[in-house]
Amino acid sequence: MRRKKGNGAMKTILDACCGSRMFWFDRQDPRAVYMDNRRFVGTCCDGRTVSVDPDVLADFKNMPFPDASFKLVVLDPPHLRCGPGSWTAQKYGRLQRGWQDDLRAGFTECFRVLEPGGTLIFKWCEYQVPLSEVLALTPEAPLFGHQSGKRSKTHWIVFQKDNALAEEEQK
Ligand SMILES: C[S@@+](CC[C@H](N)C(=O)[O-])C[C@H]1O[C@@H](n2cnc3c(N)ncnc32)[C@H](O)[C@@H]1O
Repeated sequence: MRRKKGNGAMKTILDACCGSRMFWFDRQDPRAVYMDNRRFVGTCCDGRTVSVDPDVLADFKNMPFPDASFKLVVLDPPHLRCGPGSWTAQKYGRLQRGWQDDLRAGFTECFRVLEPGGTLIFKWCEYQVPLSEVLALTPEAPLFGHQSGKRSKTHWIVFQKDNALAEEEQK
């Protein structure tokens, strides 16, 4: 049986650029704060609606949270240089001029708002920019990663132990 999720009192997870939350199993997970720098509703070329509706409208280069606020941060920034009006830009955002400085500042902010010992999950698609170029933008050393090739069926799955359960177990 699945464990129950937290009731939302403790927001321990930050999705720093949530977009339309496609990779979430639960797009309203009560443990998470969903942040993006835009609100947007539109229709894609395939007719599907894209809705970007973050809890917090803010920039990952300057996050409105105190230091050490989260146990887990996920950072899935735009990874393509494409036209501003393109379908891809509407759905995923786009790399803008100076994107290296943007991502450098984004990494710094992610590590600032993480608790000591907290986890950063970084997602990158190296379709245009190699991962090594992006990892060079942070002095922090990555632990491990997985490359999901075009035909790979492997997924990254991250779990966080519920806080209430952890407290009960300590009693
Ligand atoms: C690749 S998409 C995220 C997709 C998302 N993980 C999902 O599952 O649907 C990248 C998102 O980053 C947002 N973004 C771009 N620059 C940002 C910034 N400086 N601060 C916060 N969000 C930003 C874009 O608006 C876009 O929605």
